[in-house]
Amino acid sequence: MFFKKNRPSVEENILSKIDKNKLPAHIAIIMDGNGRWAKKKNMPRTMGHRAGVETIREIVKACSKLGIKYLTLYAFSTENWKRPSDEVSVLMNLLVEYLRGEVNELHKNNVVVRAIGDIGGLPQICQDELKRAYEKTKNNSGLKLNLALNYGGRDEIKKAVKAIVSDVSEGKVAIGDIDEKLISSYLYTSDMPDPDLIIRPSGEYRISNFLLWQIAYAELWFSDVYWPDFKPDNLYQAIVDFQNRDRRFGGIK
Ligand code: IPE
Ligand code: IPE
Ligand code: MG
Repeated sequence: MFFKKNRPSVEENILSKIDKNKLPAHIAIIMDGNGRWAKKKNMPRTMGHRAGVETIREIVKACSKLGIKYLTLYAFSTENWKRPSDEVSVLMNLLVEYLRGEVNELHKNNVVVRAIGDIGGLPQICQDELKRAYEKTKNNSGLKLNLALNYGGRDEIKKAVKAIVSDVSEGKVAIGDIDEKLISSYLYTSDMPDPDLIIRPSGEYRISNFLLWQIAYAELWFSDVYWPDFKPDNLYQAIVDFQNRDRRFGGIK
């Protein structure tokens, strides 16, 4: 007892500033900068992706411990197919490796593993592992972890428009019933609250086709840190900053 360090770490310091009663319900992260992180270290890009998976482990754990309800991670966009096929393969393999290696731990931590995006367009092995992880964790009551895979905001809206038009033509939906709530119900995120906080590391200040409909009133938080270097204290700082923002949703205070 006598020798216990009495000064809190930087991490504990930031953590203590978070108001647990005002947590964002839904945090969404554009995990970016793996390639540049690796380049800076003279390593192949794929090593950056591998290091990025470590960050996922830590950040998911931190969100879960904190009591965040929804965490959406942008892992692979509908545009990322443009990358060299060997990089795409590594990303798909890492997904399988992550799910296989982490599902028990996630389950132990009461996390539900879900996916959003055009999952049918992923390699079969990825689809199988996602399904297995979901089946194992679906009855948990903790953090809902949404992996955005083969996800594009415009693609999602296009699919919703098609489905609505099809339901209108079959007489299931009347044109007069089409409102914002109905449109939301046709999106991958139909059963989640809109994200309150969007985090993008790596020094890029754009959305890159992520949750375009859902982020209308999300608070945006940027950082120059590359994703493999992103730590729980970066997350805590983002939440502290979020809690100090004034959200008006078009109204006045
Ligand atoms: C993010 O890192 C991972 C994916 C998009 C899959 P990047 O691979 O985009 O890294 P940078 O932007 O090239 O540094
Ligand atoms: C956004 O990052 C997509 C993901 C993180 C999966 P990208 O690196 O693909 O996007 P741009 O090229 O910077 O817009
Ligand atoms: Mg990038």
